[in-house]
Amino acid sequence: MSSKPFIVWHDELAIGIEPFDREHRDMVDAINHLHSLGSSEGDAAAFSAAVDRLIRIAEDHFTHEERVLRHHRCPNLVMHQREHDELLDDVTALRLLGNDPKEVANMLQMLRDWLFDHVVHFDRGYHDCLKGKEIR
Ligand SMILES: [Fe+2]
Ligand SMILES: [Fe+2]
Repeated sequence: MSSKPFIVWHDELAIGIEPFDREHRDMVDAINHLHSLGSSEGDAAAFSAAVDRLIRIAEDHFTHEERVLRHHRCPNLVMHQREHDELLDDVTALRLLGNDPKEVANMLQMLRDWLFDHVVHFDRGYHDCLKGKEIR
């Protein structure tokens, strides 16, 4: 196994809003963990737990982010929620694809691309809306 993580956190992924940056890092960790397992062929229980963990982290983060955006009346919330929902569908699909290493690799690649694209193009976009506000 390579020692380099599948997704390396870097500054471009930071949006400068502390709780959200932390939650995005947790998502990166959870995807990296799944990538290190590869598929459910080796240890089905560990793979299943890792998928559940990613789903839980993603759901919690999306709920938090959407609540804050709604509270501060930030723009584009409906489109943003749709993006979140689609990602959750894709993560949930990992439960069915788990025993096929190639399918898992493809899906993790897609999740990585989604995360970069979403954080940079959507989450970054509300920096101005949330500037100076207390985020809970
Ligand atoms: Fe988001
Ligand atoms: Fe986010």
